[in-house]
Amino acid sequence: MADNTGRKRILTGIRPTGQLHIGHYVGALENWVRLQQEYDAYFLIADYQALGDHIDDIQLIRDSVLQVAIDWLSVGLDPEESTFVIQSYVPEHAELTMLLSFITPLGMLQRNPTLKAETEQLRADQLNVGFFNYPMSQVADILLPRADLVPVGEDQAPHIEMTREIARKFNRLFAPVFSEPGTLIGRIPRLPGTDGSPKMSKSRGNTILLGDDPETVRKKVMSMFTDPTRLRATDPGHVEGNPVFEYHDAFNPDTAEVDDFKERYRTGNVGDVDVKKSLVIAMNNFLDPIREKRAYYEAHMNEVEEALMEGTRRARVTAAETMKSVRDAMKISSYTDSWK
Ligand code: TRP
Repeated sequence: MADNTGRKRILTGIRPTGQLHIGHYVGALENWVRLQQEYDAYFLIADYQALGDHIDDIQLIRDSVLQVAIDWLSVGLDPEESTFVIQSYVPEHAELTMLLSFITPLGMLQRNPTLKAETEQLRADQLNVGFFNYPMSQVADILLPRADLVPVGEDQAPHIEMTREIARKFNRLFAPVFSEPGTLIGRIPRLPGTDGSPKMSKSRGNTILLGDDPETVRKKVMSMFTDPTRLRATDPGHVEGNPVFEYHDAFNPDTAEVDDFKERYRTGNVGDVDVKKSLVIAMNNFLDPIREKRAYYEAHMNEVEEALMEGTRRARVTAAETMKSVRDAMKISSYTDSWK
């Protein structure tokens, strides 16, 4: 779907369940900031989707909608360039999810590897139908604005694959309404947590938040997990799989310094403390401009709300157009038409 300036469209989203962290940044946000210049970009705050595992804490979702928007603005997403959307303010997301569910075999969800891994983490009584169906709602999120490309973290790739399958099937069964979107994975598909576990996640308490102050960042970095086999600074150490070095690679622009640390670490010529101290500086240098923008937006919340409202208004227009084509293709007239 190209806009009136000929730019192709991207759509991507985040569930509003808390503040964003540096894993979100290198896995996704950094790409989005760049892409918004080339593409007609839709950034979705998926508050319906967040209900799947936060139905007991809806207030967190409501508060996080604004928090996510502040995080986005702070890293440089620009509401003049792109479209910020609150999912539940465009109820066509729910309508399209429901309609597409009739052409989606249950097995497609049952086989989805990301969904499988996530549902295995939940007790049976925590797994509601809405959660199980979230990849379906994500398909609708992507198809509603008829996106050409979806920039996401690696774990989301099966959902984009499913989107292509559903788009093809809809077009074949009814009418050629949808394009088949491509997937774009970020520079660092998976940043480990500060505790060395493979993924940064709030539930594990192993995150560095984009909103953390310098002292919090210092404490978190200085207590990071490193090479568990290394007891003394004179022991040869492991750089690969060591989260401190993975963060250096991701955030320290001084690659000569990082290479030198790696060399000395491998040969037992530098202590963990020195490597970490330099990471504290690099992390805080990276976060400083983000903090500055955050302070601005926290003092100008009206601009944050305006960005959301204006984007959502645009998204509703696009959504109404797509749903008209979908209903026509499926021979489902809206009740307002049939009562005329
Ligand atoms: N599931 C995504 C996540 O948790 C968020 C999301 C919702 C999304 N809708 C989307 C991502 C559409 C890409 C496209 O991060």
